[in-house]
Amino acid sequence: MLVLGIESSCDETSVALVDNSKKILANVVNSQISLHKQYGGVVPEYAARKHMSAIDTCIKEALKLAQITLDNIDIISETVEPGLVGGLLVGSVTAKTLAIALNKPFYAINHLEGHMLTVRLCYNVPFPFLLVLASGGHFIFAEINGIGQYKILGQTLDDAAGECLDKVAKLLGLEYPGGVNIEKLAHDGDPHRFYFPIPMKKRKGCDVSFSGLKTSARNLIQSGQYFDKKADIAASFQYTVMSFITKQTKKAIALCQSNIKSIVLAGGVAANKLLRGMLEKLTEENNLNFYAPPLNLCSDNAAMIAWAAIERINAGIPPSPITASVNPRTSL
Ligand code: KG4
Ligand code: ZN
Repeated sequence: MLVLGIESSCDETSVALVDNSKKILANVVNSQISLHKQYGGVVPEYAARKHMSAIDTCIKEALKLAQITLDNIDIISETVEPGLVGGLLVGSVTAKTLAIALNKPFYAINHLEGHMLTVRLCYNVPFPFLLVLASGGHFIFAEINGIGQYKILGQTLDDAAGECLDKVAKLLGLEYPGGVNIEKLAHDGDPHRFYFPIPMKKRKGCDVSFSGLKTSARNLIQSGQYFDKKADIAASFQYTVMSFITKQTKKAIALCQSNIKSIVLAGGVAANKLLRGMLEKLTEENNLNFYAPPLNLCSDNAAMIAWAAIERINAGIPPSPITASVNPRTSL
């Protein structure tokens, strides 16, 4: 069974071909970073136009890489939620057109479900597990008991972790996307040079909040006193954010009702090596296994969307109606 996946919910136009033996035949990612960099963040209208001009080429490139034709494809899948509406529409119209023209089933996929299931494309990760999903737009702790059986344990009350890193990176004069650039700059800095107050200390549960951290970083940077200490600010800020996520993950483990065997980190921020290390240590202390996707599959890509369709098929879930609409503001 060969699935074509399309991802266009933010600033990556991606087309992948994945089969049910977990082989990724192609995973073409056309990044728009160079376009959005000059604005310090994603401009939705420009993103949608760029998806429109790139999508046909991405499909052709994926077919060429996999050395197949459209006739070899069995299923078409596409991200329909959540994300920027223009990009979602471009991908959705393209995928539905292909499904109708080729007379193939269509699977409408949730982007966050795609991130969450990537580890199962790469490794044999059994349900149930605790999901730590940290992307540019979302932060979620959830107990995952099977396909479609998701219990949200906690989430962000304001910004997502990636969003917070991107905003602080911008204040430090780093280019978009900021998370990876903060990580690079932090490499030469002292993580204990500056103190940022850890939020939610007295609050029960495992919700997170990043806006207070962002504000204290802004106050420090805009004070102008430490302008020659950017690497120390990046290192201390990264250390605080990742320690906070790890602290809340510990609380989330205690909130799981099923007998979880592992912790799964997913989303763009999962590429952060400090966070991977901290969560790996936490899982060891709790006799659990730790999984995160390989670095190239942490950020947005269509292989995760094609794989999410295969997971749905394996779970006996029927195709989506061709009238399935895009939905910019959903969760998992
Ligand atoms: O999942 P993703 O690719 O897109 C969304 O669905 O939002 O996540 C993008 C986010 C951005 O905020 C980016 O700064 C962050 O992931 N990110 C990182 C790293 N690489 C990407 N954050 C921390 N460390 C990284 N190495
Ligand atoms: Zn994403």
